[in-house]
Amino acid sequence: MSPAGSSPSDPPADLLAHLPQDAHERLRTDIPSPARTWNYWMGGKDNFEVDRAVGDATAEINPEVVTLARVSRPFLIRVVKYLAVEEKIRNFLDIGAGLPTESNTHEIAQRAAPDARVLYVDNDPMVLAHARALMNRTTPEGVTGYLDADYHDPRRILQHAANVLNFNQPIAVMFMGVLGFCQEYETARQIVADTMAGVPSGSLLALWDCTDTSEAAKRSLQQYEDTGTVPYVLRSVEQLDGFFDGLEKVEPGLVSITQWRPEQTQDGLPDHVNGYGAVARKP
Ligand SMILES: C[S@@+](CC[C@H](N)C(=O)[O-])C[C@H]1O[C@@H](n2cnc3c(N)ncnc32)[C@H](O)[C@@H]1O
Repeated sequence: MSPAGSSPSDPPADLLAHLPQDAHERLRTDIPSPARTWNYWMGGKDNFEVDRAVGDATAEINPEVVTLARVSRPFLIRVVKYLAVEEKIRNFLDIGAGLPTESNTHEIAQRAAPDARVLYVDNDPMVLAHARALMNRTTPEGVTGYLDADYHDPRRILQHAANVLNFNQPIAVMFMGVLGFCQEYETARQIVADTMAGVPSGSLLALWDCTDTSEAAKRSLQQYEDTGTVPYVLRSVEQLDGFFDGLEKVEPGLVSITQWRPEQTQDGLPDHVNGYGAVARKP
């Protein structure tokens, strides 16, 4: 039963208590949010009825979306481990971080390098409300921060990042499954270019997004858009490749995310999904 004076679609009071006043009206329970729907597909609990309804309707047309959500985290884990261990990266800027899950960027990075510094960025108020949980288990030597910001404003993100990350060292910039929410391709390219322009030489870009290579995915997105949520744009593999212009991709290049340095332990993962990603170095 709802507390007196509230309706079933009001945001829970305990969530609002974790949000600054100016973020209250951004927490909508009548429109699905990308962060919460993704959390639902990943098997999380930080979502509302409206997110589960569109999540189920989308998955009915395109069941692969649930697989994608679930294989994307092992991909992120492999990427962050690679960056921390093999590239010796100690600074991570995770843009479009999403809701906390079992293995978050700072936990993976700081397990490999306890002094790693991580700044999460997201513009969803639900992620802001859970930001403290996103920063749990930070090592004593490490730093983990959170910024409520929109990636359309790279200048603001870079300015804040300078207070958290060490810009005298290379930085890993992560856009993991997030740029499809930027409607114009050229704008998305500019966001990546402007962000990479603000980090030192030797920094790396880690990026993946869904491709337009699935007819079911294309069909499923129409009803997703009809809910009034931020639409997600599927892009061609060539367009995703364009995000890495001027950078040097590390092996194996831009591939289906299940094919990016897969580990022996990946039993049961599909060989191919309609999500492609890569890691690339700024010369
Ligand atoms: C599909 S989820 C991916 C989350 C996470 N990166 C992961 O790999 O699990 C997309 C995330 O991007 C965030 N996002 C979408 N548009 C954004 C924007 N304009 N600025 C910042 N974050 C954004 C959403 O709030 C959501 O948390």
